[in-house]
Amino acid sequence: MRHLLSTKGMSRDEAILLLDIAEDMADVANREVKKLPTLRGKTVVNLFFEDSTRTRISFEAAAKRLSADVINFSAKGSSVSKGESLKDTAQTLAAMGADGVVIRHPASGAPHVLAESGWIDAGIINAGDGTHEHPTQALLDAFTIRRRLHRGAARGKGLDGVTVTIVGDVLHSRVARSNLWLLTTLGAHVTFIAPPTLLPMDMSGWPAEAGFDLDAAIDAGPDVVMMLRIQQERMNAAFFPNSREYSRRWGLDDERFGRLAPTTIVMHPGPMNRGLEISSAAADSAGSTVREQVANGVSVRMAALYLLLSGDREDS
Ligand code: CP
Repeated sequence: MRHLLSTKGMSRDEAILLLDIAEDMADVANREVKKLPTLRGKTVVNLFFEDSTRTRISFEAAAKRLSADVINFSAKGSSVSKGESLKDTAQTLAAMGADGVVIRHPASGAPHVLAESGWIDAGIINAGDGTHEHPTQALLDAFTIRRRLHRGAARGKGLDGVTVTIVGDVLHSRVARSNLWLLTTLGAHVTFIAPPTLLPMDMSGWPAEAGFDLDAAIDAGPDVVMMLRIQQERMNAAFFPNSREYSRRWGLDDERFGRLAPTTIVMHPGPMNRGLEISSAAADSAGSTVREQVANGVSVRMAALYLLLSGDREDS
């Protein structure tokens, strides 16, 4: 694997390989084994043009647990704020000898531009681009579901027949898009539930069902309910009903949470708007994987860095 830009087009075998390597990495990620020497001498740059807590920190932890050197770059406080272009920024990183670049950018497609530009010869990982994709989030979500469902026997398995209901701001969600492609490739059935204004106008070609009624979706008894963050920062006021109305119709509140089967997995990629899209009782319940998702993010990102940078890189 040369770059990790998208889950669309990722094959089932590629996805399962990465998830299985993440299983192998879990003992290191969870600090039961201190470090692996795998990426000693390699440099990973975290190039973040948008804010992040989980993704940036977990990529840093992942790279360090594989013994790579890590450079953290935030657009705020850099020469980007003086107008420096992506090209000049990339060429600066190339001059510093970056082997891998983890990029988050507000423009959909920016990681693809970097990968195809020739400005830098490095493995590129998309850490979230605009409303397009967030592939490592989907991989850690799939890893988390697979682990919960298959307990200690997850290796080699997909998510065949698993029903996943994804709720909320689908329109602006790169997490929803990456999960759609990956989870269906792994055999899951995906349903989106959202207000009409927060579903894309054109979902043709999306292998998913869509609807507006969260109560009916809950009563259908899904294996997984994944709540999405309301992305106020990307939103025109006309899109959003209002907080009280949104929470009443599309929030996983205490009453809806109480109607879920005890085996239903409750997910959220974070950061959460507690009391808006999810109640604290749901977020902090035994069925919630919110903290597991964060921990699993380190294992999955170790696997991605390993596949791109360990010396077995091949063009794809
Ligand atoms: N889930 C996620 O991408 O979180 P951050 O924005 O904190 O990285």
